[in-house]
Amino acid sequence: MIVGSIKEDLSSEKRVSITPETARNITGLGLKVCIEKNYATHLGINDNEYKKTGVEIKDSSSEVLNSSNLIIKVNCPSENEISLLKDKSILIGMLNPSKNKDQIKKIIKKKIKTFSLELLPRITRAQSMDVLSSQSNLAGYRAVIDCVAEFEKAVPMMMTAAGTVPAAKVLVIGAGVAGLQAVATAKRLGAIVSATDVRAASKEQVESLGGKFLTVEQTEDMETAGGYAKEATEDYKKKQAEMMKEALKKNDIVICTALIPGKPAPRILNEDLVKLMKPGSIVYDLAAEQGGNSAYSEAGKINTIEGIKVIGVKSLMNSLPLTASSLYAKNLFSFIRNLYSREKKDFNINLEDEIITKSLIRED
Ligand code: NAI
Repeated sequence: MIVGSIKEDLSSEKRVSITPETARNITGLGLKVCIEKNYATHLGINDNEYKKTGVEIKDSSSEVLNSSNLIIKVNCPSENEISLLKDKSILIGMLNPSKNKDQIKKIIKKKIKTFSLELLPRITRAQSMDVLSSQSNLAGYRAVIDCVAEFEKAVPMMMTAAGTVPAAKVLVIGAGVAGLQAVATAKRLGAIVSATDVRAASKEQVESLGGKFLTVEQTEDMETAGGYAKEATEDYKKKQAEMMKEALKKNDIVICTALIPGKPAPRILNEDLVKLMKPGSIVYDLAAEQGGNSAYSEAGKINTIEGIKVIGVKSLMNSLPLTASSLYAKNLFSFIRNLYSREKKDFNINLEDEIITKSLIRED
């Protein structure tokens, strides 16, 4: 059984699905691995490093796609790649099925078993495969680093003979995976950090990282049984906007990470709220590609409004592709380990396994 991987479209994606470390792990399961030549040279990893782990290097992507039983990718394959995929093979990636409906239909038509790792259940057994967590954690860290680079003042309190400069104030909206890492990173840099979330359970997590939790008084529990957020009611939105008015006047950097799975990003900051911030402040919107938590946010752009920079994030993982690849490749390896039966020497699509059934894309 051969596991193959080809280069992504480097103009938009720098991550890879197999690192030399995970290639060694996959061959350790008794599987063969092949990749396209110069697979990760853009990351400073040359083909020889893969060869040392027993990986076969093929001259072209079509040779890899033609000969592999299992293809692992970061993004959904292109039309051309789909035409080259072997019938009845297996495909695993972050395929964004709600956005790539047409491509997925074509893949399934070729009787290819297709798994999208964003669909994994958030259960203990699937934690090592959880691509949303591994990538969002990095996103939260990088959000703070990017803000600090754009911010024209020092972040920590500076006590000098010339006088004292106060610490910058950072507000994180949405205290999920990315948000909590943003709280931790901003804290480590010496900022005064606060955060807010619709889920009451996140209060304790924010406080455990040294942040202050800003509560919006509510009667309803805004958390689903699966631990995700429910959409905010009109009453909640009004109360949240009131609370934001005071917070925005005081904070220098606002990092937006609010998300409701399967829905467009909740709009939390309208134009008037953004304009309450001081000139020189920053709004960093991690949800820009899903429509944005903030007014003025556009994916891939920095818009300056009355001296306030609104940064709309796009393809953030391309800013730290080595770390993102390393974690993503480990997520993939854990998934493959669960999928492969060493006894049968074959992949085992066990439909009684929640990990398999939830991540397998079926025809509607
Ligand atoms: P998550 O689901 O772990 O956290 C989102 C949080 O937002 C939850 O705690 C939820 O309760 C909260 N929330 C929902 N509605 C809210 C509201 N109205 N007010 C306050 N809080 C609210 O999501 P995760 O994984 O942390 O992702 C956060 C964002 O970062 C997403 O938009 C995601 O797409 C984006 N992201 C972007 C990346 C990029 O490369 N551009 C990479 C990774 C994540």
